[in-house]
Amino acid sequence: MSLVERDLATVWHPASHFADHERLPPIPIAKAQGVMLETADGRTLIDGISSWWTCLHGHGHPAIVGAITEQAQRLDHVMLAGFTHEPAVALAESLLEVAPGDYGRVFFADCGSAAIEVAMKMSFQRRRQNGEPKRQRFAALRNSYHGETLGALGVSGTDAYRELFAPLLPDVLYLPTPAHPSHRHEDLRTELGADSPEADRAVALLQAHADELTALVMEPLVQGAGKMAMPGAGFYARLVREAQALGIHVIADEIAVAFGRTGELFASTWAGVSPDLVCLSKGLSGGVLPLSCVLVTQGFDEGFKGGLERSFLHSHTFTGNPIACAAGVASLRLMREERLPHLSARVDAMTRAQASVAARCAGMIRAHRQAGMIAAFDLDPGDRMPVGGRLSLAIREAGIEAGALLRPLHDTLYWMPPLSITDAELDALAAATVQALEAVLG
Ligand SMILES: Cc1ncc(COP(=O)(O)O)c(C=O)c1O
Repeated sequence: MSLVERDLATVWHPASHFADHERLPPIPIAKAQGVMLETADGRTLIDGISSWWTCLHGHGHPAIVGAITEQAQRLDHVMLAGFTHEPAVALAESLLEVAPGDYGRVFFADCGSAAIEVAMKMSFQRRRQNGEPKRQRFAALRNSYHGETLGALGVSGTDAYRELFAPLLPDVLYLPTPAHPSHRHEDLRTELGADSPEADRAVALLQAHADELTALVMEPLVQGAGKMAMPGAGFYARLVREAQALGIHVIADEIAVAFGRTGELFASTWAGVSPDLVCLSKGLSGGVLPLSCVLVTQGFDEGFKGGLERSFLHSHTFTGNPIACAAGVASLRLMREERLPHLSARVDAMTRAQASVAARCAGMIRAHRQAGMIAAFDLDPGDRMPVGGRLSLAIREAGIEAGALLRPLHDTLYWMPPLSITDAELDALAAATVQALEAVLG
């Protein structure tokens, strides 16, 4: 049996319809280096989406591979309850040093959804044991995505993910959110969205419900799974400030946007705000091992000190795994030494590559936008919509044919390549994108 046959007989794939596998079976990947994935039959694909928004420095970066290898040989795993180790402490120290504000502690977990749930529970518990028991409810943005475990799904504002499970999910206060389909990278330097009608209504809702709200959960600047919508740095800044002024904790979900993706180390930096709790994952380990954490604002932990019943009972088995943390330490060092000094040049290169696709495929694109190393194109399929509306699948298939991993979110095609992508590799990504669009919509 081939690998694909064995796979189809045994593996249940995430975010995939069984029927789609008949048309586009899982593609065996044998190797990856830099921005390139190599299939088992020897074809190469540019990783246009950093393998689900994780890979920062290119696949197989020797500094990260070396850190992992060395750590695995010394200490593979030990529980973080009652024990500690150099990589967890070093990573916590480095994160606190570069964090977007005055943060005092790092709570580790193992995936993005878990980090969201940690932050939600921390906020809720702090209220319960510090004289604010009425503050039990969460606010979140429409069109948001925070993960798919029940707690994280509970604060996600996208019906496609929520609807089926709605009976299991909490009653969340959803806030309207502007979208700027033609958002330019330079807009991050402005107050865009701050005085939008959506911001006015969101603030009015926060004010009306302040005494029952424990926290507002938000993706700063880019709603990733929400078709890369960009509500504006001004919108984000205004909501953070208004919520904090009303005593509502702000949980920033920087899981997809931290570590340089928006052109700054943290997206919150653009807005000049310091959320109370910041969730990180994906690029935290350089994008190579499962790891997540919550940055906790200075003094927040005071609400958990005192009697035994005030402890925060939350633990995942692999919390702060030494190998993953060692990868994280190496990744942050690379970020400072190799990525950040060249990041604005990479962002300019993204702007050029995006403009060239928009010009070459003008009739097929309704709008395009950018925030740092994230670019998105809203497609206009016209009368070329593939049978069954499977536009994303058709483009994914055509992308592979053209030599790129593209995975549109419905009718929005986006790029989120490793930050290390070169000009020549961006040109190749642009060429493959044009080829895929022409094949499906041309
Ligand atoms: C903004 C955001 N939050 C949370 C998550 C959930 O992370 P994980 O899939 O690691 O649970 C994701 C995943 O894509 C995300 O993009």
